[in-house]
Amino acid sequence: MRIITFANHKGGVGKTTTVVNTADILSRWGKRILVVDMDPQGNSTLTLGRKDPFEHQYTIGHLLADKELSVADCAHSVNGNLDLIPSNLHAYSQLALLPPNSAKRIFGLREKLEAVRGADNGYDLVLVDCPPQIEGPLITNAVAASDVYILPVDGESLYALQGTNHLIQAIEAIREDTNSDIRLLGVLVTMYNPRTTASRLVMDAVREFFGDALFQTVIRRNTTLNKANLSQQSIFDLDPASFGCQDYQKFATEMLSRVETGQKP
Ligand SMILES: Nc1ncnc2c1ncn2[C@@H]1O[C@H](COP(=O)(O)OP(=O)(O)OP(=O)(O)O)[C@@H](O)[C@H]1O
Ligand SMILES: [Mg+2]
Repeated sequence: MRIITFANHKGGVGKTTTVVNTADILSRWGKRILVVDMDPQGNSTLTLGRKDPFEHQYTIGHLLADKELSVADCAHSVNGNLDLIPSNLHAYSQLALLPPNSAKRIFGLREKLEAVRGADNGYDLVLVDCPPQIEGPLITNAVAASDVYILPVDGESLYALQGTNHLIQAIEAIREDTNSDIRLLGVLVTMYNPRTTASRLVMDAVREFFGDALFQTVIRRNTTLNKANLSQQSIFDLDPASFGCQDYQKFATEMLSRVETGQKP
């Protein structure tokens, strides 16, 4: 079981779209996948959970705050190979129940995932969707639990790399403080539009800054992806022939190969 966090302190860069569609595609290929929605906005919960995020009995907040609850108690089955730990805005109030110095504010997710590691018919991959923040208990829990992280970058924004150094330093600091082994698996450019100067400049800057860490796959801007999110479906369900679906299948293949070969970018 490998645990992958998708993080960027910037909002709207494609973290959730990437988690939801990569998880869906990998589950169709027979991988056992758990999506952990760490974001109280509950966006991946809305797409995958197929009901209002407030209707789920247990969320990530309950899982982290209640020592009696296990991953199996909180996991919602999306399809035969894909489960989801949902989230909603109540996650904040559940986390607030934890005393400020509680280890669960840091290691809650790691402990709960350790308990399912190696289980019969267990998960191959856990994909963690993070809120757009640079610090706080949700990010700390994700980083402390994860083997690797992926940085999705907005391919249309000239500000795409602003603050990236701070994010990487913040993750590095949590890594040291929590003895996590987390390392960067790769940088994924999303919403790429080859017709714009901005996208070309972003690609050049990301390539220069990250070198081989940049995934070869680029996710192009594709309104079908947005439509899929709006109609609470995966891109595969809505339109498997769309280039959004093709791009995410290519990304899933490349991500899997980096995970399986343990390739260091
Ligand atoms: N490749 C794409 N083409 C077109 N629209 C996209 C693409 N990727 C994402 N979007 C749209 O952009 C918006 C932001 O995407 P998404 O919610 O995945 O970002 P996020 O990083 O998870 O945001 P947040 O930080 O708020 O959680 C959504 O409306 C989504 O439908
Ligand atoms: Mg999101």
